Amino acid sequence: MPLSERLNTIISLVPLELGVVDVGTDHAAVPIELAHLNQHRTIIGVEYNDRPYYQAVQKIAKAQLTDVVEIRKGYGIDCLAPGEVEVAIIAGLGSSTIEEILRRGKQVTKKLVKLILGPMDYPHQLRRYLLLNGFSITQELLVHEFRWYEIITAVPGAQSGAILQPGATDADLKEQLENLFNKAFGVSKEASLLTLLELTPLLSCEDIEQAAGFLQEKKDGINRILNKMPENVKTVQRRQALEEKLQIIWELEEKLCGSKIL
Ligand SMILES: C[S@@+](CC[C@H](N)C(=O)[O-])C[C@H]1O[C@@H](n2cnc3c(N)ncnc32)[C@H](O)[C@@H]1O
Repeated sequence: MPLSERLNTIISLVPLELGVVDVGTDHAAVPIELAHLNQHRTIIGVEYNDRPYYQAVQKIAKAQLTDVVEIRKGYGIDCLAPGEVEVAIIAGLGSSTIEEILRRGKQVTKKLVKLILGPMDYPHQLRRYLLLNGFSITQELLVHEFRWYEIITAVPGAQSGAILQPGATDADLKEQLENLFNKAFGVSKEASLLTLLELTPLLSCEDIEQAAGFLQEKKDGINRILNKMPENVKTVQRRQALEEKLQIIWELEEKLCGSKIL
């Protein structure tokens, strides 16, 4: 079965010559494709759950890649030694699980030259975790497959030329993001750190249609919540925060696309 555009995009971000671990490998589709691209490097798939682990082992045997790809059973990168691979793919998992994997695997992540992260939810929370924990965000990609998926690449430490540099506090991050958004779009409205972190893919998105689609999905999500939310004293603050977010999105749309997309 052909790989999804999301997984193909992730694979395209792995340097051909580097050793790689695919965490949450499921049916081992990613390691198999990586092996087809270059067999002469370390390729490890990690699976936590029994059934996908055995399926991954079987798939590797069927693809005659047992000498090339190793499937390990374990949690995240706990079963790796520091320096064993240079690249880690952690995709198809929720942001909080990815955070937990990175938190537990600090000795391993310190030695990585690239992390390729594909969170299924709350990517802004994952960005915040990365930046407050010493990682730079080096690249961001949007992939549309029924909905927008955000792919984030990161490296440990500060790196010149990165989109976002690590910061010590939320205030540092907010200042950094405000400067970048002002430089890119001249946004006049005040936004919270989490809103800026939600809209970060726009800082590196060069395709106007992609950017417009991404913003449209954000607006649809906010409007769905607003439409369901009862109007009473308990919801005033939440409603106001969502309406402010909509205002920022409208302003960005105007800057990006020249007109408001309603
Ligand atoms: C939805 S699949 C994602 C497959 C593929 N990585 C992708 O992006 O399409 C998630 C897989 O991660 C595995 N998983 C969940 N938590 C994990 C963890 N902490 N360590 C390793 N694997 C995990 C699950 O068993 C499942 O097979």
